[in-house]
Amino acid sequence: MAKEVEIDMNLIDSVISNYGGNPESLLMILQDISDIYNYVPPEVIPVLVKRLGIRESLIYSVATFYKTISLEPRGKYIVQVCTGTACHVRGAGKVLQAIEEKLEVREGQTTRDSLFTLEAVRCVGCCASGPVITVNKETYGGLDRSSVVRVIDEYRKAAS
Ligand code: FES
Repeated sequence: MAKEVEIDMNLIDSVISNYGGNPESLLMILQDISDIYNYVPPEVIPVLVKRLGIRESLIYSVATFYKTISLEPRGKYIVQVCTGTACHVRGAGKVLQAIEEKLEVREGQTTRDSLFTLEAVRCVGCCASGPVITVNKETYGGLDRSSVVRVIDEYRKAAS
């Protein structure tokens, strides 16, 4: 599991204020918080309840419904492997397996050094380029076992 990070509540406050404290903006607020920390830290939940005037259960149901939002700490780099149909028939399974072997984690896990979290997702919208992975907001297509390992190596190198 990735390390928990120190949360800047002023930053959380400004995210909420960007949406005028509107409870209908809950999903966008959770997404923005996720963009900052790669997850929604638990200490943020009571703040959202108070500022948005909503029930805690609503936050949990929205956060658990959307795959892009996590309530668990995640790595610096979120590696998402598309396992949609088009990518599947082009070898997404082998790409996923190569990443699992390279990072020594299974899908859904975070590396011990908190650098990578590996996730399998459905279609990311560029099927013609499959198999496709995304690393944070970058997309890589036409991958095989060796090219995806090179992508991972690049990120590891950049982080060292
Ligand atoms: S199925 Fe992978 S991008 Fe659409």
